[in-house]
Amino acid sequence: MKTDRRKFIKQTTGTMLAGMALSDFAFAENRKAVSSNGIKIETDDEKFWMMVRQQFPLTKEWAYLNNGTMGPSPYPVIEAVRKGMMDCDQLGNYGGWELTAKKLSAFVGANEDEIALTHNVTDGINIACWGLPLQKGDEVILTTHEHVGNAFPWLNRQKLHGIVIKTFTPGATADETLNRINALITKKTKAIAVPHIPCTAGQVLPVKEICKLAKEKNIFSIIDGAHGPGQLMLNLHDIGCDTYASCCHKWMLGPKGTGFVYVRKDFQDTLQTYFVGGGSDNAKWNMAANPVVMGEYNNSAHRYYGGTQNSGLYKGVDAAIDFIENIGLQNIHDRISMLGGYTQKRLLEFGDKIELITPTEERSRCAVNGFRVKGIEYTKFYTMCTDVKVRIRSVAENGLNSLRVSTHIYNTKDEIDKLMEVIKKV
Ligand SMILES: Cc1ncc(COP(=O)(O)O)c(C=O)c1O
Repeated sequence: MKTDRRKFIKQTTGTMLAGMALSDFAFAENRKAVSSNGIKIETDDEKFWMMVRQQFPLTKEWAYLNNGTMGPSPYPVIEAVRKGMMDCDQLGNYGGWELTAKKLSAFVGANEDEIALTHNVTDGINIACWGLPLQKGDEVILTTHEHVGNAFPWLNRQKLHGIVIKTFTPGATADETLNRINALITKKTKAIAVPHIPCTAGQVLPVKEICKLAKEKNIFSIIDGAHGPGQLMLNLHDIGCDTYASCCHKWMLGPKGTGFVYVRKDFQDTLQTYFVGGGSDNAKWNMAANPVVMGEYNNSAHRYYGGTQNSGLYKGVDAAIDFIENIGLQNIHDRISMLGGYTQKRLLEFGDKIELITPTEERSRCAVNGFRVKGIEYTKFYTMCTDVKVRIRSVAENGLNSLRVSTHIYNTKDEIDKLMEVIKKV
């Protein structure tokens, strides 16, 4: 087994080095995809993870520690987009994006007819938020750590329809978070709309228990899943949510401007369709009939989206799923969880000079960490980082005034150490 693996690494590395002189796209075509060949890769197998890193166009100069904002795509994804667009623009091929819904559904543990394609998380949350049959005075529970994408649609319904928003701050443990949600529930609570992983501190919320609680109390469960797919071992049927909105770039490493919303099959007749078009119906509409005919909604989540999509981008999503599956989602999850743990360990070494915002509880953390550096404005610390080419994120949302570091498979411990050097300077 070991010899085979050495041979495999040698072959793959050889292919990559041979391609170095070629243009980026030729490089992508000439390389073999990195594959674990179905075996477990150790989280500290730097040789393997360096091969993975070389699949990304990221520069060596910058330590890119901001995957939570933008997930860079590896070459095979970029190449698939180019090819997909050429198929369309050169040969006139049209359509085919529905096939991605099938692939996506298998990737996230759903059925094909439960996936609607969108362009980003915000699209999916709007579809879920607008479709809920809510009336004036109905209560919806959110966190104090929302991204604008899961805040504004609800705030807008508050403004337009008079729903009432109640908030809680995620606790240091999953149990504490559940207790806080429980304490907010009243007879008027109609929906719990929380992130799986908030953009602020990146803590993993106990969504399975939250959805179970919601179900028991006849409350809709609407999950902002921006950071779930590609980071966690995701199974939407197992989570049991009514809807789950995500994008295909961040942790999935696919093209920007692609996303999906999951709507549980038996929830589709409850979630009203406001955004409709070609593909949303059963093709029986007729404007020449008298009276005009609309027909029925498509008997799937396709009812929630319509019109032309960019098939090239969705070819990129297919390639991103292949890229992840070649390495193995479990291998990826373990590696990035290790990097997240390493980041926590290094931050905690600074003692009371650092405030770690992300819980250390094993089940409540993964690849994202939030922190504050005592004695320095977060914006100033952010600038110090960019000055030495360390890309993190400053978190201005909801007055948190903190910093966030998020690491994916292309990152190394050295890059995390580079951030620690900036803290040492402070
Ligand atoms: C938790 C969370 N929700 C929603 C969004 C919005 O995503 P999008 O820009 O794809 O709509 C983000 C983006 O960073 C996010 O982190």
